[in-house]
This record gives sequence, structure tokens and C-alpha cells, in this order.
Amino acid sequence: MDKLNDPSLLKCHSYINGQWHPSDTQIAVTNPATNEVIGYVSDAGISDVELAIDAAKVAFKTWSAHTAAERANLMRKWFDLLIANQQDLATILTLEQGKPLAEAKAEIAYGAAYIEWFAEEGKRIYGDTIPAPANDKRIVVIKQPVGVVASITPWNFPNAMIARKAAAALAAGCTFVGRPASQTPLSALAMAELAERAGIPSGVFNIVVDDDAKGIGQVLTQHPDIAKFTFTGSTQVGRQLIAQCASTVKKVSMELGGNAPFIVFDDADIDAAVQGAIAAKYRNAGQTCVCANRIFVHDSILEEFTHKFSKTVSKLTIGNGLHESTHIGPMISTKAVADVDNLVNASVILGAKVTLGGSVAKQGSHFYQPTVLTNVTNDMPIAKEEIFGPVSAIISFTDEDEVINMANDTEYGLAAYFYARDIGRVWRVSEALQYGMIGINEGIISNAAAPFGGVKQSGIGREGSKYGLDDYLEIKYLCIGGI
Ligand code: SIN
Repeated sequence: MDKLNDPSLLKCHSYINGQWHPSDTQIAVTNPATNEVIGYVSDAGISDVELAIDAAKVAFKTWSAHTAAERANLMRKWFDLLIANQQDLATILTLEQGKPLAEAKAEIAYGAAYIEWFAEEGKRIYGDTIPAPANDKRIVVIKQPVGVVASITPWNFPNAMIARKAAAALAAGCTFVGRPASQTPLSALAMAELAERAGIPSGVFNIVVDDDAKGIGQVLTQHPDIAKFTFTGSTQVGRQLIAQCASTVKKVSMELGGNAPFIVFDDADIDAAVQGAIAAKYRNAGQTCVCANRIFVHDSILEEFTHKFSKTVSKLTIGNGLHESTHIGPMISTKAVADVDNLVNASVILGAKVTLGGSVAKQGSHFYQPTVLTNVTNDMPIAKEEIFGPVSAIISFTDEDEVINMANDTEYGLAAYFYARDIGRVWRVSEALQYGMIGINEGIISNAAAPFGGVKQSGIGREGSKYGLDDYLEIKYLCIGGI
């Protein structure tokens, strides 16, 4: 870690109530590109989690009583520090997660943007007045913070997934207990260090690192002092966590799995579609919930698209994310590599053709070759499952209704993309796709101003945008009589 300008950003204990909490046992954090241990972090126990919840409960009283402008000032300082330390934060992120440094820097800016956005949006938590049914009554609606918020976030965006939950929570006046993925705790702890330097009061933002996802998940979903639980991760785990939250009727928001269709119609700008598909598919080595999972191409342009797309993919370089030439970093684990390889092989047996790649890369057991499969059908495992790896599955289609039916034929509904120029088609397809987010002639859709979230089994609630505050607020109706 001598690569850091400010080595004191590297923290090794949970951050609870403004203190760093050591413990007897340690979690080794490894660099997936090299398998080297880059640090050890204290493994918190259930009692530490409870301490964090107690601290957040106490801090809620004062934090929720701050004015929105006071909260915004502190959040703005946090944002400024995140941006000032972007290079170091990106280095830490690449070392523990693997993504190319340029992508890691973009993630730091992306995460910080939520803090900036919500700091401002917190000043616009408006209530309402409603015409009453009687002259001596008045109806007023106010919005109040829900209370203590708990979150569990994944390893694929170790900074931004925490930032977009914590930013909305803190701006609304809630306090926060976050549990980052145990593979990538260093980014979360560096965020905590900068929150402290920004002057965010003790107990408002807590990060608890542990190696017992199930145990900690049970506490965070069932503790009576937690008012709201938010999770980003797989649909399978999300279902379980929602069920656990039922025992205390918590407000929940869930950002779960996806199976994004990426449709290229015959009137599309093919070169733009190729670039969009590369961005939507290969970002973070294909390890995002909004990655293009099934690339549907109209049969009249199939050959041209596949040729141009495969040629571009063949130029993507695999390697250590710290090397400037790297486009595709390591995957998070050898199990993740094996899962992707199994999906590819299972689909090849059923008739998919490997046009490019198709196996573990020579760079090592954490790397998978950027792969293009053609001759794929919508019922193959590679089209039914969330791939979460650098593999493109190309499926041909002949008409609009057919492709919409295929695109919607999944339990997921997070992101979808399509390329077309006919304005009638743009509206028809936008309205027909059963997804929470649609990229139209665009492969990158995530930003702080937009509502990120899914329908069907891809989630509940929205993150980012003016809608992102709703999940952290309660509506209170005041009926004023005797007027
Ligand atoms: C995710 O993969 O969960 C988030 C992706 C994004 O924010 O773009």
C-alpha cells in the first residue's frame, strides 16, 4: 500500500460511534489479481453490530433535529474529501476488488455524486396541504426520517453502493449502519475515515465488517431498533432478507439481480450499438446487475453486428487493474470464474457457438477471457441465468413482438437497453419492456440524478434522484380540528 498518497486512509477496524473497534479475529483481504493478502481487518462480532445500532439510535435524536442545510454542509464536506482523495480511494478499490483503475476512479466520482446530490435534495423534502372535508379542519402532510437504517452491500461496487444508500439516509435525517462485503471492506472503512474528517457526528455513519454474512444479516433484519433495511445483491438472498424483515415489519428497499436484454433493431446505428453493448457488457468484467445479459440482434444485421462487436471485444486487454492497459480485470473469486465457465459450457452443449474466448484466461485462475457466444437461444442457461462475467450471448430475432416477448420472459426486471431510430418504435418498445430502467441508444444509464431500481423480482424501491429519498421517509398526516 505504499502506492497511497495518504496511507492513513487504510483502516483495519470497524467504525462504530466514531471509534475504530479492534477484535481478536481478523479477515484477510486479498487482491484478486495477484492472490496476495493486502491487509487484515478486524472481524466484528454480533455485540459490535449491536453497539453500532445503539449508537445510531442515540445519534438519530440529534442528527434528525439538524436542519437540512446543516446536514447538507457536512455531507458536502464529505463529498469534497472523497473527491480530493479520489486517486487513493480508487487504488484501494482496485487492489481489493480488481476493476481497472480508471473504472475505480469513475466509481469514486459516481459514489460521491450521490452524496452531493442528496445533500442538496434533502433541502427539498416538501410536505403537503390537502383541502379538508370540513371547514373547521385542516389536513397537513409532513415527511419525517424513518430512523436507523441498516444496509448490506456487495463487493462489485464497494464504494458507490454504500454511498447511494447512506447519502439518501443521511440527507433524510436517518442514521446508518452499513455492512460491506467482507471481500472489499477497505473502501467502506476509508469512506468512514473521510466521514469522520468531514465532521459527520459520531454514531451517524457506522461501518461494521464481519465474516458472518448470515449472522449479521439476521441481526440487521430483525433488530427492533432498525426501522429500515436496504440491500444490494442477488435476488435469492434478497428474498430471504425480505422474509426476515417481516418479523419486525421493517421498511425495505432491495436492489437485486438482473437479466438485461440489449436489443439491436434493424434501424439502429450499428457502430453506436457496438460501443453501447461493449460498455453495458464488459464494465467491471461483466460483474454488475445492469450488465447486458442477452444481446438480441435483428437477423438482417446479425452478421455485421457480430463481426464488428467480436472485433472490438477481441481488443479488450485482460490484466491487473492497476496496469493502465487493462480493460478487463480479474473476477472476484475462482468460484465466480468457475460459475461463468459452467454456464458457457452448459450452453455450448446445447448448441451455442464460441465465436471468441470461452475459457479461463492464461493470466490466472481469477481471469476469464472476454467471450462472445453466438447461436444462443433464449432458453439456454447463459440466457436464463444472470451471467455476472465477461460473456456476451447473442440471440437473433426477426420481429418486434417476438423480441419483446423474449426480453420479458424472465423473473427479472432491472435494466434493459435497445438501439433503434424509429420514434414510434422507441416509444412502443420503451413502454412494452417490463424493466425499471431502459437505456435507449445508450449503454451506461447509472447516475445520481436518475431513479435506479427494478421491477418484478429485481427489487423494491429506487435509489438516486428525487424518488430516492422516499424510502427513507415516513409520511405523517396531521388533522387539525377546531379551526
Ligand atoms: C450494481 O451492479 O448493483 C450497480 C450498478 C450501477 O450502479 O451501475
